Amino acid sequence: MRETAAKLMSGALVAFPTETVYGLGADATNAAAVARIYKVKGRPSDHPLIVHIADLKYLDQWISDIPEYGIALARNFWPGPMTLILMRSKLARDFITGGQDTVGIRIPDNSLALGLLEAFHKLGGAGIAAPSANRFGQVSPTSAEAVKEELGDYLSDSDLVLDGGPSEVGLESTIIDCTEEQPRILRPGAITVSMIEEVIGIDVSKSVDQESDEFKQEVVRVSGSLENHYAPKAKVYLDQQPVVGSGFIALEEIETPDDVIRLAAPKTVEEFARFLYSALREGDHQNLDSIYIAQPTGDGLAIAIRDRLSRSAKGR
Ligand code: TXA
Ligand code: MG
Repeated sequence: MRETAAKLMSGALVAFPTETVYGLGADATNAAAVARIYKVKGRPSDHPLIVHIADLKYLDQWISDIPEYGIALARNFWPGPMTLILMRSKLARDFITGGQDTVGIRIPDNSLALGLLEAFHKLGGAGIAAPSANRFGQVSPTSAEAVKEELGDYLSDSDLVLDGGPSEVGLESTIIDCTEEQPRILRPGAITVSMIEEVIGIDVSKSVDQESDEFKQEVVRVSGSLENHYAPKAKVYLDQQPVVGSGFIALEEIETPDDVIRLAAPKTVEEFARFLYSALREGDHQNLDSIYIAQPTGDGLAIAIRDRLSRSAKGR
């Protein structure tokens, strides 16, 4: 890992697995390297990036303040699929935060990612900035092959893609704004409302009410909250009767209608999240015009799945 970390130190990009999705990493203090992330992704430069660190001991240098509930969340769910938005220190420059006073931080729960981060810190690195390793607006990659498919044409010879096998969670981290008295969920994920409430004893359920206009306005700086995100090439239809020749994704218990192509039959909501993005990609590989999805109901992780799917269905 030392050599890979050294690559990052020298300004190269390294795509790496995390438990959520694959990230496209750069030294979070190197303006030129971070600029290349935006270029390779084709992402507008005012969209902030998440800084990844290996351990809580590297948190302080990035932030100027953290509320009690933020500390409780960090202690309970890191390493894990959760990003905290905190007041930034001077180390978190405008090219990371999109000019905002806040910075997003995460300790991922993946041995390759943590190994890379540890090696990077050993060389004096402060943190690795990493958005999902897809072109802007596309489906996040959950395998090294998907990263290469997305970004292969844009990476240079000095960059690297680490292969850690398929992502365990399959959906991007839960993002929690910790800059006010009450926490607010900006992006639902595998750290769910009830898990958060159990730890901090504060009601956060209102903050994931995506139907309210208030929610939409508040998360305007979260690019993943743009309506036409997470979209495959095929048109996505939710909870409708599939037409002949289309792709179909639903829980295993739901039978495949006649003459459609079953892209995934997950047994549980967890499996639904894990296989969703690769199933959408498979639909594109098969050049399908449309993919029909029967959404999982209920709360918990199903909320995160429906959040991404509602955006996929808006198309590009
Ligand atoms: O699971 C994940 O979070 C993955 C893995 C690689 O860690 N990363 C990821 O990054 O999904 P990205 O850039 O694709 O999505 C991060 C979202 C963006 O929508 C960004 O706008 C938001 O987090 N974000 C980052 N910093 C922020 C900040 N300071 N305030 C508000 N939103 C922020
Ligand atoms: Mg993304």
